[in-house]
Amino acid sequence: MEVKLSDGRIIPMEMHKIKIVQQTNLASLEDRKSAIRNAGFNTFLLRSHDVFLDMLTDSGTNAMSDNQQSSMLVSDDAYAGSESFSKLEKSVQDILGLQYVIPAHQGRACEHLLSRVFVKPGSFVITNYHFTTTKAHINLYGGEVLELISEAGRETASTVQFKGNMDLDMLRDAIEKNGKENIAFIRMEATTNLIGGQPFSMENLKAVSEIAKNFGIMTVMDCSLISENAYFIKTREAGFEDKSIKDIIQEMAAQVDLIYMSGRKSTMARGGLIATNSPKIYREILPLVPVYEGFITYGGMSTKEIEAIAVGMREMVDLDIAGSGAEFIKFFVNRLEELGVPVVTPPGGLGCHIDASRFVPHIPWNEYPASALAAAIYLVTGSRGMERGSLSMDRTPDGEEVPSDMELVRLAVPRRTFTLSQLEFMADRIAWLHKNRELIQGLRWVDEPPVLRFFIGRLDSIDGWEDALINTFTAEFGDSR
Ligand code: F0G
Repeated sequence: MEVKLSDGRIIPMEMHKIKIVQQTNLASLEDRKSAIRNAGFNTFLLRSHDVFLDMLTDSGTNAMSDNQQSSMLVSDDAYAGSESFSKLEKSVQDILGLQYVIPAHQGRACEHLLSRVFVKPGSFVITNYHFTTTKAHINLYGGEVLELISEAGRETASTVQFKGNMDLDMLRDAIEKNGKENIAFIRMEATTNLIGGQPFSMENLKAVSEIAKNFGIMTVMDCSLISENAYFIKTREAGFEDKSIKDIIQEMAAQVDLIYMSGRKSTMARGGLIATNSPKIYREILPLVPVYEGFITYGGMSTKEIEAIAVGMREMVDLDIAGSGAEFIKFFVNRLEELGVPVVTPPGGLGCHIDASRFVPHIPWNEYPASALAAAIYLVTGSRGMERGSLSMDRTPDGEEVPSDMELVRLAVPRRTFTLSQLEFMADRIAWLHKNRELIQGLRWVDEPPVLRFFIGRLDSIDGWEDALINTFTAEFGDSR
């Protein structure tokens, strides 16, 4: 919920109270310097103890509700026919309106199963925009991803409310050019992650689905961030103001042949699932679950997490909960914008995205400006974000580097986890860094993995630029935090 203060400011209001907290640590500047060096300038490789606000991701890091926590105590650990799974099925049926549920250990496991069943060598998956793990699985099965995001989706600063929309003319052209029989499926990603957590509209989803139906092509929706996309439809799309989040979610799910989701985001637990109303699709995928995931009533998940997803799915349709992340993000994005920091606009649904191409335009793309900026942000805030730029792109099979459309640093805002003063602190220090941006330079590889290199790759700073950055920072703030 948002409230208007007497001075006109609008702030997000937490519609919960905090019952359990975890102490966090703001390391000294010297400790931060050695931590980022030891981590190969890769924020994925920092230890949690060395991180003050962990904004790496909103995946599996959200604050669960008391009802979710208590449900975990009554989970049924039966290997087969677990009662916990029956509760999950019931939640999916009630909330998403989908009959058949296939559990998997997390979102990428769903992507693996879907790619294994539907992607053939030489086939195409058309999507509004790729996600790293999705693309990796499709490519591993010999498929190619075609991204048909609307023009506004590639612009970091925009006022377009639905930047996650697919371009419909490009969709028709791509189907005609490549042949409908070569298209494995069309995938729409809710609250499109890599372009800054940007939603698609219901109108666009319906149009995509209509075109797919006319050509007889299967449609898939990545629902990892479904409640946020529904929240944006309710608050931004004409005609949906008076509809409930649950009705909007059901209307979304009804447009596609199958959905899959990571349970680590909107449902604030950990795990994943695929759901469909098609018995044919269900029967095609189900036999692979015991091979790769576990029995069909747990799919590699702990039954405790299954319980937590079952409850989280019912809770995510509460408007205050669906908006809990988005409203904090809006506050953070607006604050950074006021301070002159280039950010992705409009505010999205999983974090604040800083535009590194505008923040550090002096760093060439192949020296990884977004990674360098993420490392610099760690140094001045003790907090970590994630690079979402050219380092997150893997090389082509010929070993060529691929520049990303965008060079972003994502500062994820896990739901119900941080406070406004913590966001104020981040905004202040990042604004300082922006004023001193010339001190940040590029990175070069020390150890580059062959696939999904951003996760565990190690780099070094060109000419050790972090020393001058720390010295300038210390001159202003002391060795304070
Ligand atoms: N799809 C989307 C849209 C995602 O954001 C993610 C994960 C996945 C699929 C894969 O799910 O992690 O459960 O295997 N996003 C995380 C992130 C990794 O940090 O944004 P998973």
